[in-house]
Amino acid sequence: MKKYCYQNSRRQFLRTTGTLAAFSLAPTMLVKAFPIENAIPQPVPKEKITLLVNGIERSAEIDGRTTLLDFLREQLGLTGTKKGCAMGQCGACIVHIDGRRMNSCLSLATFNNGKTVTTIEGLAKEDQLHPLQEAFVVHDAMQCGYCTPGQIMSGIACIREKRAGSREDIQRYVSGNICRCGAYQNIVDAIASVQESGKTV
Ligand code: FES
Ligand code: FES
Repeated sequence: MKKYCYQNSRRQFLRTTGTLAAFSLAPTMLVKAFPIENAIPQPVPKEKITLLVNGIERSAEIDGRTTLLDFLREQLGLTGTKKGCAMGQCGACIVHIDGRRMNSCLSLATFNNGKTVTTIEGLAKEDQLHPLQEAFVVHDAMQCGYCTPGQIMSGIACIREKRAGSREDIQRYVSGNICRCGAYQNIVDAIASVQESGKTV
């Protein structure tokens, strides 16, 4: 038993000192592999873009890595479009690009140079809400409201693309829009009511 313990602790000792030696060598090896000038962040070249956002031409010079979502929210101040997951899984950031719905967190702003973008802020006409915005109020289709802009943009696309023929079709189409408050039935009610009304969306 004693022998086993001795061997065990000796093995542990060697493992520990080996690991420490590796860590102490690592910085030297890293500096050799990546000279210090490579470690200094280089300025990112700016790219000029022009988009038609909610009917207004918007031009800016931006870091080419900027997503459309961040461009809309942080540079244009259009914070109605929400950032949920920032990885294409919740639908909170959906906008329309050239009339088609898109997760704006998944698209670089520069990819949309010259395109037409509509956000939730671009739906109402002065004091007149969009029919689907009205339906969301009538059908109480929101609780905290965080997912609502994405749900509405998705719902409009669903009707425009003629995919709102039944509740099941609507549910399938908007299944990428997550509502943490669980207002799903009311959201489908709202979309179905606009579809049945025949109003232009
Ligand atoms: S923030 Fe874009 S899909 Fe979640
Ligand atoms: S209303 Fe709260 S997340 Fe949908």
